[in-house]
Parts: sequence; C-alpha cells; structure tokens
Amino acid sequence: MKPIIAPSVLASDFANLQSEVEMLNKSQADWLHIDIMDGQFVPNISFGFPVMQAIKKHAEKPMDVHLMIVKPELYIEQFREAGADSVTVHLEACNHLHRTVQQIKATGAKAGVALNPHTSVQLLEDIIADVDMVLLMSVNPGFGGQKFIENTYRKIEATKNLILRRNSQAIIEIDGGVNQQNASLLLQKGADVLVAGSFVFNASDPIQAIADLKSVTFN
Ligand code: DX5
Ligand code: ZN
Repeated sequence: MKPIIAPSVLASDFANLQSEVEMLNKSQADWLHIDIMDGQFVPNISFGFPVMQAIKKHAEKPMDVHLMIVKPELYIEQFREAGADSVTVHLEACNHLHRTVQQIKATGAKAGVALNPHTSVQLLEDIIADVDMVLLMSVNPGFGGQKFIENTYRKIEATKNLILRRNSQAIIEIDGGVNQQNASLLLQKGADVLVAGSFVFNASDPIQAIADLKSVTFN
C-alpha cells in the first residue's frame, strides 16, 4: 500500500503561502501537515488561527493539525472551525488525555495522539483503542530540518504490536527528519503516514520530491 504523504507547511515560504498551497494541491500530497507551536510546550512559536484560515482558503486537501501547545483542550473546537480535519495532541501536554480525545472526536475531526522521542509507547496501552492516529516524533518537536532519531524504528514496531494486540484501528504517522532514504524502512516497520518538511520544501522541485516519497517501495 502507498503511504499517505503529509508535507509540513512549516517549511514553506510564508510570504508566498498561496502559491505554496497551490503547489501542494497540484502534487501527490495527501494531507497538509499544520504545525502549531506556542513557545511553551516547545521552544518555538509558529503560527495560529489567522494563518491556518488563510491556508484553508486555498487548500484542496485535508488539514492534519499537530498541536505542540500546552492545554490543547482549550482550543480544540477553534481548530476544528479553522479547518482541521484531524487534530493531534501531545500525550505529554494532556492531564486528561481520554477526555481530550473524546472532545476531538465530538467535533467530527479525527483524533491523534503524539509522543515525544523519549515517551514510551507503553503509555498508549489504555488509549490506543480510542485514537485514530499515533504520531511518533522522530525529532524533538519545535523545529524543522533536524536529524532523524534512529530509535523511532523500534517505536514504530512497538506501536504496531500494540495496535494489533488491542484491536485498534489507529494508523501511525512519523514526523521529523523524514526523507527518501529513511522512508522505505519506516514503511517496512509499519508507518502509514510520512510528514516531510525540509525534504519537500528545500528540494529544487518540491512536486517531484513529494512524488519520490509517494513512490517509495518496501517489502
Ligand atoms: C517539528 C514539526 C515537524 C517538522 C518536520 O516540531 O512537528 O512537522 O515541521 O520538518 P522536517 O521534515 O524538516 O523535520
Ligand atoms: Zn508536526
């Protein structure tokens, strides 16, 4: 099966956002990955609702919103209204993760849970059956363009095993340092969705870079 490709808009040229989104519309990208950072949960600030709405105005593909913010439960409905098709919250940012997952689902959006590189997959044991997606961070969140952390392969296997054991429908998304070289092994281990920021937007031909990721094979 072909992977779902979700280019991260964080790496795009914000001064030319409309043409960047139109490029993604024309490409084989499946989703637009939208990184929201608050300067609290992560040491960086990205953008908020007005920019998201501007993207939504031109986007012809689902918006996959990754919340790197504290207290995400305060903003779920607003992100949905701003055009989120899926909303992913960090396990580390939620005191009542089960409640927040139900809150996301009640808006009609898909619910994802993200884990930082140091967070054990075992902590998903009692929530995995309720979530639509697990996002495994393969870099420390906050910045694009970082080096892929190799331990991610092991975490994909552990997540896949947990999904099967608990009869969950969740899919696995990998975020950070993804490129054409590591994509094949990521898929082989069980990844379903590949997020790619710098690999796509730093390429001389982003449409081709997306096509290259989409056509990565594994056995
Ligand atoms: C990092 C973000 C990622 C990032 C990926 O905190 O969650 O989505 O934009 O960028 P690359 O692919 O450059 O690592
Ligand atoms: Zn992200």
